[in-house]
Amino acid sequence: MTMMLSSDAKQQPDDGRKPKTGSGMRKKLYIRTYGSQMNVYDSQRMADTLAPLGYEQGDTADDADLILLNTCHIREKASEKVFSELGRLRLLQEAAAAEGRRLLIGVAGCVAQAEGEDIVRRAPQVDLVVGPQTYHRLPDLVARALGGESGRDLIDIDFPSESIFDFLPEEATAPGAAAFLSVQEGCDKFCSFCVVPYTRGAEVSRPVKDLVAEARRLVRRGTLEITLLGQNVTAYHGEGPDGSEWGLGRLLERLSEIEGLARLRYPTSHPRDVDEELLAARRALDKLMPFLHLPVQSGSDRILAAMNRKHDSAFYHRISERLRTAQPDLALSSDFIVGFPGESDQDFAATLRLVTEIGYAQAYSFKYSPRPGTPAASAGAAVPEEVKDERLAMLQQLLNEQQTAFNRATVGKKMELLLERPGKHPGQLIGRSPWMQSVVVQAPQRLLDKTIEV
Ligand code: 5AD
Ligand code: SF4
Repeated sequence: MTMMLSSDAKQQPDDGRKPKTGSGMRKKLYIRTYGSQMNVYDSQRMADTLAPLGYEQGDTADDADLILLNTCHIREKASEKVFSELGRLRLLQEAAAAEGRRLLIGVAGCVAQAEGEDIVRRAPQVDLVVGPQTYHRLPDLVARALGGESGRDLIDIDFPSESIFDFLPEEATAPGAAAFLSVQEGCDKFCSFCVVPYTRGAEVSRPVKDLVAEARRLVRRGTLEITLLGQNVTAYHGEGPDGSEWGLGRLLERLSEIEGLARLRYPTSHPRDVDEELLAARRALDKLMPFLHLPVQSGSDRILAAMNRKHDSAFYHRISERLRTAQPDLALSSDFIVGFPGESDQDFAATLRLVTEIGYAQAYSFKYSPRPGTPAASAGAAVPEEVKDERLAMLQQLLNEQQTAFNRATVGKKMELLLERPGKHPGQLIGRSPWMQSVVVQAPQRLLDKTIEV
């Protein structure tokens, strides 16, 4: 495939409309991303794979030649949103057809993986379907769709034996000062409520050598902060340069040696995976930011067992203690589920107690949502929706109070910010504190993408 050249565009009639699609012409790609940072990362890489076909990513769906929905299946609400968006896109597709343009619609991500053919059955306007492990094949699928193929032939949701990372091109656009690096995919933990092990598949880690090379490339192009991504980053067990298996602790140590890299982060950890090497990394590495997302889900041992979390509340307390001893200024965040099947008032009270005892800088909380094919979906007595609503409101109130208290306690503190984006008003920039707080400052534009002391 040839790269689009700007002179091609000039040969098109200048009637204010963009050129029709065809090989060698500028084409507009719009990707709508649902869900986590992992999906944001995947969306960027999808755009990278399509760049050689002449697709340029735009900010809106208007006038697009290809629209991809990169979907999330973690809670029911997230997947239902996809189908209502597909309804809207059908109208856009019809309007494009009336103008003589072809608008391709693709569904990627975990809804694609979980629903497969059902998507095309429910939404025939969808031209292609691609899973989280197969999106490197997008260029081929797009070319075939434009060539007239349709239906089942354009559904690619295998779990291929090869790693997708061996097939992705280098980043087409410059990374930001804060960039993501995907270190592992999938999960083997099988929490009883969670679809991830089914939609993302078994846990696979990338080799240390590849990650160091990618991180160096990011830093050469201006990245100062790298956030390691994965469904469960602490399960990382990639091949080390010496051929042995390396855990996350050793990987962090190696990455922190990269000159010019200022900050390292990793979200999504499982309490069971926190080992000696990871604690040693927290003790020793100045570049490792003092903020950790350590999901607990519930404070009730009975519910934690039913969730198959493989830890109880005492274990979680111990791990938090050890992490905080290793890195005294460490702030924690977490995920919570309220209204898991069988959750009683006492179980919920145990969750509130745990939150009070641990103390969080921020947290996410959700109402339990049964996911098809997961063990929890067919077990235990469902908690009524009103009870879930009540519990969620109580939990969120407590978490909000803790977050406000945490933020108040940083007022007047000296800290380093990474200035990531312009603020709302002229002369403002927004930076991230070591503890993931957004901080608005008056600062000259030239400091964008730099770290400063404030
Ligand atoms: N219902 C509600 N919340 C869920 N999560 C995962 N699965 C479900 C579900 N079925 C939440 C968990 C997890 C976060 C990413 O999403 O809290 O940590
Ligand atoms: Fe899902 Fe996280 Fe549990 Fe894995 S560890 S099954 S991703 S909740």
